[in-house]
Amino acid sequence: MALWKKKPPAEVDFTRLPRHVAIIMDGNGRWAKRRGLPRTAGHAAGAENFRAIATYCKEIGLAYLTVYAFSTENWKRPAEEVSAIMGLLKKYLMEAIGRMERDRVKMRFFGDLSPLSQELRELCRETEEISQRYEGCQVNICLNYGGRDELLRGARAFALDCLEGRADPNHLTEAAFGGYLYSAGVPDPDLVIRPSGEVRISNFLLWQAAYAEFYFTDVLWPDFSKEELHRALAAYQGRSRRFGGI
Ligand code: FPP
Repeated sequence: MALWKKKPPAEVDFTRLPRHVAIIMDGNGRWAKRRGLPRTAGHAAGAENFRAIATYCKEIGLAYLTVYAFSTENWKRPAEEVSAIMGLLKKYLMEAIGRMERDRVKMRFFGDLSPLSQELRELCRETEEISQRYEGCQVNICLNYGGRDELLRGARAFALDCLEGRADPNHLTEAAFGGYLYSAGVPDPDLVIRPSGEVRISNFLLWQAAYAEFYFTDVLWPDFSKEELHRALAAYQGRSRRFGGI
């Protein structure tokens, strides 16, 4: 590509990073199609890019990164595609466990893991357990995650606590309800990034993203490089966050 066609690099102030960035890793299928490859090759490239971006987020000192890997709606995809994504997750988790001492990233899973294979559930449990001792960037992987499903589960758990006398509906606060969600203890995302040209939230972090800044780009997830992340961070730093005030 000719130099003049390149987008200029973005200026990021690394002393003023958002605390929590969340990403909808979208566009893997289109990335593959444009190259005449099967969709699964797009997911493989997406998984590689996730690893690269997560590593970079840790290097720059981001405190929390949350990614949407598989939604409660993604089961509607062809069985081979679902199984390819699960296979990539398994590969990623096995590698992550192997290099945990080097990476020192804390990991958590948001979502209902019960429909996953026993092997995958065990890998998730092991990854969470071993990585809790690390202090660096916390990476949250949303797996069989849906924002509405999360809110329903939280409401059910709270109702049960009320029935059994552990909670009182008259004293429920936003902070206390947040404790019933998968993200309990994690600050809300400051910036939500969606690549691939789609401009919607798709059931992602519905409660948590109430005051998040949104950044949309046409770049497809496997092509979402460090430079693209810089653009998103610079756009975030240029916004004025008022949280309903003036
Ligand atoms: C959306 O792109 C992507 C997904 C539904 C799957 C994301 C999965 C990965 C990146 C791989 C596994 C993840 C980890 C954390 C190792 P799409 O298929 O909807 O793309 P399209 O809109 O172009 O069809």
